[in-house]
Amino acid sequence: MTIFPSICLFVLLFLLFSSSSYGNVLPQDSNLCQESLFVKDVAVIDAAQQANCIWRVQTDENYILVFTLQSGDGNSEQAQDFVDIHDGLDEYSPILLLENQKVHKVSGKHFPSQALYSTHSMAIVRFKKTPTSPLRLKIQKAVDCPLNLDSNSECGRVVDEVSCYCITNTTRDHASQMTYCNDNQMKLLAVETRSKETAIYAAWGTTTVFWTSGSDSANEGIWVWESTNATLPCPGYANWANLQPDNAGNNEDCLALNWRSVEGWNDYPCSNLYQAICEAHP
Ligand SMILES: *[C@@H]1O[C@H](CO)[C@@H](O)[C@H](O)[C@H]1NC(C)=O
Ligand SMILES: *[C@@H]1O[C@H](CO)[C@@H](O)[C@H](O)[C@H]1NC(C)=O
Repeated sequence: MTIFPSICLFVLLFLLFSSSSYGNVLPQDSNLCQESLFVKDVAVIDAAQQANCIWRVQTDENYILVFTLQSGDGNSEQAQDFVDIHDGLDEYSPILLLENQKVHKVSGKHFPSQALYSTHSMAIVRFKKTPTSPLRLKIQKAVDCPLNLDSNSECGRVVDEVSCYCITNTTRDHASQMTYCNDNQMKLLAVETRSKETAIYAAWGTTTVFWTSGSDSANEGIWVWESTNATLPCPGYANWANLQPDNAGNNEDCLALNWRSVEGWNDYPCSNLYQAICEAHP
């Protein structure tokens, strides 16, 4: 007599369980699981475990979130059948679409990726159903990257998905370019790696001279990236052009990229007027 109700319960539970694991018949809002995630730097969520879950994702104020769908079959657009990303902490906030990236790509200077950028430090991720192929969502903290800082500049994510680089084509002396970057909450460039330098040339060429934050004005011959206070070579990287630095005329204390249209660095008088590149990182 007591067995019968238990069997009923078992059958009922079995039906419930089997329908939820196959997902698609569930009404959208039943059984939602709720998770919170604070992204300090980078996080990865495996979508297979998350069907019908909502994640509230947040990073530090004044930063934004960048989402990259890593799909087993490489088809990120199909991934949107399985996950919605809302731009804000309300599940009724607008959904970010891959097409939004066209807005971010106006300058044509973006790191090639299918990343989605939030406009605030908060977003809701809604996993709608179990993906048919492996799907992971990578979430990173990023700086905002405007199209430009003024009409004679342009910006882009030229090195990676999370940082921002801006060129100013207004020529100024070294100190004034440093002030210009700082006034825009950025720093005058430091070049720590070959890959960073190559990406910058790919975006903005090698035919004009760009001020960087490199300087030896404090101690002649000891070169420092003033934006980070790191002493060159840092970390083990330097790319001086042939016969440089030469401190010509005993008056060359600032480091610029490109010299006679050759990739590489040269020391110049800090009072020379050149273009410059600013950078910002999360
Ligand atoms: C600024 O100069 C760079 C390199 O010379 C060039 O690629 C870019 O189109 C210029 N941008 C603007 C807004 O003038
Ligand atoms: C670099 O050192 C100078 C002098 O000690 C200091 O004023 C400046 O704030 C430092 N900059 C950074 C980025 O640490």
